[in-house]
Amino acid sequence: MTQNEHSFGFRTRALHAGTPPNPLSGASTVPLELSTGFVFESIEQAKELFSLRSYGTIYSRMSNPTVAACEEKMANLEGGLGAVATSSGQAAQLIAVLSLAQAGDHLVASSQIYGGTVTQLSVSLRRMGIATAFVPGTPEAMRKAIRQNTKALFVETIGNPSGTVADLEGLAAVAHEAGVPLIVDNTFATPYLCRPIEHGADIIVHSATKYLCGHGTIVAGMLIESGRFDWGAGKHPLLSEPSPSYHGICFSETFDEYAFLTRARMEVMRDVGACLSPFNAWLLIQGLETLALRMEAHVANARRIAGFLQSHPGVAWVAYPELPGNPSYDLARRYLPRGAGGVVTFGVRGGRPAAEKFIEALELWSHLANMGDAKSLVLHPASTTHSQLRDEELAAAGITPDMVRLSVGLEDPEDLVWDLERALAAAEAAGVGGAATG
Ligand SMILES: Cc1ncc(COP(=O)(O)O)c(C=O)c1O
Repeated sequence: MTQNEHSFGFRTRALHAGTPPNPLSGASTVPLELSTGFVFESIEQAKELFSLRSYGTIYSRMSNPTVAACEEKMANLEGGLGAVATSSGQAAQLIAVLSLAQAGDHLVASSQIYGGTVTQLSVSLRRMGIATAFVPGTPEAMRKAIRQNTKALFVETIGNPSGTVADLEGLAAVAHEAGVPLIVDNTFATPYLCRPIEHGADIIVHSATKYLCGHGTIVAGMLIESGRFDWGAGKHPLLSEPSPSYHGICFSETFDEYAFLTRARMEVMRDVGACLSPFNAWLLIQGLETLALRMEAHVANARRIAGFLQSHPGVAWVAYPELPGNPSYDLARRYLPRGAGGVVTFGVRGGRPAAEKFIEALELWSHLANMGDAKSLVLHPASTTHSQLRDEELAAAGITPDMVRLSVGLEDPEDLVWDLERALAAAEAAGVGGAATG
């Protein structure tokens, strides 16, 4: 593709970027290369590859041709310099953090993020000596929490599950003022609805398990970097000082704009080992091909569901960033002009018991721990994805006991509404309806 002559649109790139037809076989799909290792041309080439003097495929823990095709497509869609695929979204976050921070360092994260990320940062990484301050994800609050040893800011484009939209440009300005990168988890938005790098973000992480794959079949993650951040400025010694793990290589000096991606892949991924399997990369490529179409349909159905819930007497409140009066309304208009995603949260009148009754009465909506599937899913965050959080962390994340999270799928909207209506009636009939207690 000659991008210099013509600038291709998102749908075209989702289909073609990184995955041209195979010149040997003519196959139009990327071959699934299930090979652990790759034959060296010579002793000299093997030495060059292992010492990072040349770039190539050594072993599938660090790189694999099918995984590389998927990485190239994702980097292209996010507008980044490159990507590293990981075994899960959690692994993408871990590798992002360990590529720039070590014991004694500090991060600032929004408190309105996925519960698993909160515990990863507040328990596991803290045990490893990397502390995180959780604050409201506004530029002002995050600026105040920055310390001398802060190495990055972390937010979600659309917070899980609150739907809080991040002020990406404001946050990028705060991060850059402090000489640190802005890491954005873009799982809920996907690059079709928002490309945070265009708004100043430096590192993007994804749970590719969700919309990117889109069919609820795999667990996968992705880490993308803009290539714009100056890793040699001295704030991140892991990148600017000699590494004992490669005979004193200095990543920022040797790899310039590729410093972060090279360290993430060749040092952190090498040692952590949370790589994406080629088979899952292959499935992810299939999912990415239709991302634009699916996101359009998720958004259309979510709008319909949010409107239906707003007008239902059994519903205490509805949160979807596009609804007038939602605290993120203005930010959604600015950063998510194509739509605010496929997640709608709401409170069932009658609080937690009513929410539980409602979920049990649904037929079409699957009660399971995932989102971004083609099928519609429902969950009670306080007792599942965010159940490890303490009460004050739940409150900071905007999670109430009556909150139900809907991941609106691609079914006929009339059928989704039919099922919601039935389940709301069942919650009311069970006598748990009434004034919201959540
Ligand atoms: C916003 C967000 N980020 C990261 C993750 C973790 O991803 P994974 O389950 O692929 O490890 C999740 C999982 O629900 C999520 O919702």
